[in-house]
Amino acid sequence: MAVEAGFVLCLWFLQLCVLPCAGQEPVDLNAFQPQSALTDMEFVSVSSYRGPGNTDTRSNKELPILLWWSANLFPHFPGDTERVDCARSSCLVTQNRKVQLHRRTASIIFYGTDFRAYEAPLPRLPHQTWALFHEESPMNNYVLSHGPGICLFNYTATFRRESDYPLTLQWLPSLNYLLQPPSVSLEEKNRWRKAGLAPVLYMQSHCDVPSDRDRYVRELLKYIQVDSYGKCLNNKPLPEYLEDTSTATGEDRRFMSFVARYKFHLALENGLCPDYMTEKLWRPMHQGCVPIYKGSSSVADWLPNEHSAILIDAFASPQELARYIMDLDKDDSKYLRYLEYKTPSKITNLRLLEGLQNREWGINDMSKPNYLNGFECFVCDRENERLMAAKRHRREPDKYPAPQPKMANNTHMGCPLPSPGYGAIEEIDPNDGWLQMWPQDYWQSLDQAEGLVSLINHNESDPSLLWQHIHRMAMSRKGQ
Ligand SMILES: *[C@@H]1O[C@H](CO)[C@@H](O)[C@H](O)[C@H]1NC(C)=O
Ligand SMILES: *[C@@H]1O[C@H](CO)[C@@H](O)[C@H](O)[C@H]1NC(C)=O
Ligand SMILES: *[C@@H]1O[C@H](CO)[C@@H](O)[C@H](O)[C@H]1NC(C)=O
Repeated sequence: MAVEAGFVLCLWFLQLCVLPCAGQEPVDLNAFQPQSALTDMEFVSVSSYRGPGNTDTRSNKELPILLWWSANLFPHFPGDTERVDCARSSCLVTQNRKVQLHRRTASIIFYGTDFRAYEAPLPRLPHQTWALFHEESPMNNYVLSHGPGICLFNYTATFRRESDYPLTLQWLPSLNYLLQPPSVSLEEKNRWRKAGLAPVLYMQSHCDVPSDRDRYVRELLKYIQVDSYGKCLNNKPLPEYLEDTSTATGEDRRFMSFVARYKFHLALENGLCPDYMTEKLWRPMHQGCVPIYKGSSSVADWLPNEHSAILIDAFASPQELARYIMDLDKDDSKYLRYLEYKTPSKITNLRLLEGLQNREWGINDMSKPNYLNGFECFVCDRENERLMAAKRHRREPDKYPAPQPKMANNTHMGCPLPSPGYGAIEEIDPNDGWLQMWPQDYWQSLDQAEGLVSLINHNESDPSLLWQHIHRMAMSRKGQ
């Protein structure tokens, strides 16, 4: 049994070495000098935008502090500290880790992809909240997909609609983006078909991913012609003039017109999670190609209408899906139904319309804040409310109840255990790369999350004790 625990620990160390480090020194508690750090901060801060409901007259010295823990994400420039005047209240925001343990530091904001249990700011002070910003793929950090991991955060901004500050439609710039007429007409697409172009495009260069999409596409390739230009399942070379644009974000004009000739685009996300949708879904729609989609199991909730994408989950097998696509390929009027949403009146999904209308942040829209600043202000206003409520309660406990604790739960992330893209897990070769990587990563992340909870419960100050705590937990599980 001890061998097993040792094995788990080895894997941890392996991961430690392999994972890129966040590039920041862990905070040195001995060097903690709140006074000098704050003095620097109070002078450099500049007041910028003030929300209409903000009557906060406090000086910088009285404001709560929000600390951005992750390097390189601090959404202000230049300097490392700034005063923000939000919709209802003001805060000082900083990326100076010296204020970690300061009594005025009300909240610490983390970037999900960089969040590492063995680098967490400890001890966790009871008066401090944690806020999570994670707009990226679930594959970047499965710690956050486990209850013990996500519950450590009091505020979240994730792709899930249930999060406190949802970023669900982050890859859809506007309604007009969807309404743009198809870049290539159906007549022209049909001409390309006659000239030998496949009905379906696949373009993927990130191959070993948790969604295991290549296993599915490999099976699909048996039943239908697919042109695959990326590194994964490649069966066609990219024209030379596109070689260096193929890995770029794909907004290159020549690249766009190259891919828009295809009637269908395979659009499989790298990780599966409710509400995780990226440009893989929206870009083909923008171009007037039909996405063959798998990613968010609840994607239908956000599509313009009930026939604007082909959902892989709706088909029992790749073979059935192939049959359906071939049928559409031969039937122009059926195909064109999938593009009806290009007419505004055919966008009937209210959730989509309202989601775009009501979000306070914008994409490439100078009249709206970006979502990093937006979330920062969300946390600022919430923290000021909480501090105010706590103060009222201290003064008049009979009249004002103590504020209720607030924390995230699995509905704010909660992505499922990676499963094979095709077939049953028992049928997969034990040496398969995907099998060795992703299910393990998922369960190791649960250990990390539980280890961090244990560190916090023991009021540890050194997060690198994580491995000891995980080891101890493994040993006590065996004792049961
Ligand atoms: C923040 O979350 C932690 C951990 O889940 C919890 O113990 C704490 O009470 C929460 N704080 C507030 C102010 O809600
Ligand atoms: C999870 O959090 C959401 C709000 O963020 C809340 O509405 C829901 O009740 C919570 N679910 C559970 C099981 O606590
Ligand atoms: C936790 O540790 C900090 C410093 O390491 C200490 O100031 C604080 O009193 C401890 N809290 C508890 C509840 O033991």
